[in-house]
Amino acid sequence: MKKLIDRIGDVLAEGFEQAGYDRAYGKVTISNRPDLCEYQCNGAMAGAKIYRKAPIMIAGDVVEKIRDQECFEEVTAVNPGFINLKLDREYVAEYLRQMALSDKMGLEESGDPKKIVIDYGGPNVAKPLHVGHLRSAIIGESIKRIARKMGHEVLGDIHLGDWGYQMGLIITELKARKPELPYFQEDYEGEYPEEASFTISELEEIYPTASLKAKEDEAYREEALHATYLLQNGHRGYTAVWNHIMHVSVTDLKKNYANLNVEFDLWKGESDAQADIPDMIERLKAEGYAHMDEGALVIDVQEETDTKEVPPCMIQKSDGASLYGTTDLATMVQRMRDYYPDQIIYVVDKRQELHFVQVFRSAKKTGIVPSETELTFLGFGTMNGKDGKPFKTREGGVMRLENLIAEIEEEMLKKIMENRTVEEQEAKQTAKTVGLAAIKYGDLSNQASKDYVFDVDRFTSFEGNTGPYILYTIVRIKSILNKYQAEGGVPEEAVIQAASGDSEKALMLEVLKYNEVMETAYAELAPHKICAYVYDLANAFNRFYHETKILAEEDTEKKQGYIALLLLTRRVLESCIDVLGFEAPERM
Ligand code: ARG
Repeated sequence: MKKLIDRIGDVLAEGFEQAGYDRAYGKVTISNRPDLCEYQCNGAMAGAKIYRKAPIMIAGDVVEKIRDQECFEEVTAVNPGFINLKLDREYVAEYLRQMALSDKMGLEESGDPKKIVIDYGGPNVAKPLHVGHLRSAIIGESIKRIARKMGHEVLGDIHLGDWGYQMGLIITELKARKPELPYFQEDYEGEYPEEASFTISELEEIYPTASLKAKEDEAYREEALHATYLLQNGHRGYTAVWNHIMHVSVTDLKKNYANLNVEFDLWKGESDAQADIPDMIERLKAEGYAHMDEGALVIDVQEETDTKEVPPCMIQKSDGASLYGTTDLATMVQRMRDYYPDQIIYVVDKRQELHFVQVFRSAKKTGIVPSETELTFLGFGTMNGKDGKPFKTREGGVMRLENLIAEIEEEMLKKIMENRTVEEQEAKQTAKTVGLAAIKYGDLSNQASKDYVFDVDRFTSFEGNTGPYILYTIVRIKSILNKYQAEGGVPEEAVIQAASGDSEKALMLEVLKYNEVMETAYAELAPHKICAYVYDLANAFNRFYHETKILAEEDTEKKQGYIALLLLTRRVLESCIDVLGFEAPERM
């Protein structure tokens, strides 16, 4: 369905043209004076210079031409030259009825679907997930869902950090603890055990222990580096250990991400890119893209228009080892070969921006990624504690994701038990659902690139701009609809009536923005715009609810109209929270 704002825009454009002006001036925006009008057009002001006429006269001419259009209830030219618009109630109701009948609620899918790879999550295998990985998962998941809703074909790739020094550290520590295991016998030629000799909790203890030892003990560090080198060069025993680590970790990661309602299509990692590195480096050397600089192999990426120095992208160290950038470039080789995407979006901490500038430029310059494929860096800010510093535990350590989630759930449970009288079992389940909404909404309601303060009290509140408030509103609608059905009513979607009151109309005007908001959120990769919208929508609904006797309405047609509006409001809210990555419980 054509967006309502565009439909009105067409009417205005027509009006300008009929009055003898350029139709391009007929641009309509949402009113910034909601007390005066609903939409407005400022084109007369822009045209005044060209036509050497007072803007109010131009506005007046246009108003003459459009005042009788069925879409308007009121059209006025006001000083110095605004055109103020109020929409006709029946016109609005008809738009909503069409929305209710369309299966995507008026959303127009892209006629030319793109294939998009989203690189998000990015946890490092065998290291515990911490809050830094939370943002990537939450934002990336939302971007993926928004793009899908717009009809694009999206592949979410977790891009595991599974090939680095941490693997060498773990191997070294395991070897120190159990040197008798066959992985560490150089002359061993038999089969290795199928099962790992450690559990995830052991692994989570082994990594920090090894990491600390390596910092204090130079010989240990050397050994870990050497183990990393051997692993990366195909050492048989270490590869077997690596497979165990991967298996144990990935099983655990899958559980963690499932709890977050985050789902990846691809579980690839840095290790999957390694096979493409040798050929890639050969080609870059042969074609003159890469050259030696102080012993390292680099690609120059400085551009003339740069105001700051952009250092070259290093792809091989003097000892032959590859680097973070090498892996990212080789991953692009693999992605282009396997999926040939139109766009790759990276959802990564914004402190890695320079790295991606270097990698993107290298990829384009060398033809690893063709010019028509768009590379997008979506950098996010830091999640801080109330003290304004990166979020820590009460003891000052790095907060583990599981603990953070548990803390929110506990707080939610407390609030739910205080408020209501549901069984503890149900309350626990609800606390999980609402807690996740609290975390995700708290994150997504901020523009991704900004730092934000993780505030458990505020995020779990049922009032204000929070996830629980949005869910509470949805649950309220569900409960009215349930009561209506319990009374024998049969809710119907497409019988929305022209608004009889102001709060009802205000609610309708919010509901009908759905397609526009979703489109903008996709175009700008901005889930926070969805949050801002659901908050406005929830407020509009609650105002309507407080001012209207819905179930006690005696006029049947009117009552059915209310119910139909509730159904559509609920559908829009649910579709929005779905792209934010959470859902509403039945009761709370
Ligand atoms: N594993 C990395 C980290 O924890 C994030 C990976 C981001 N994606 C990428 N293609 N480099 O910092």
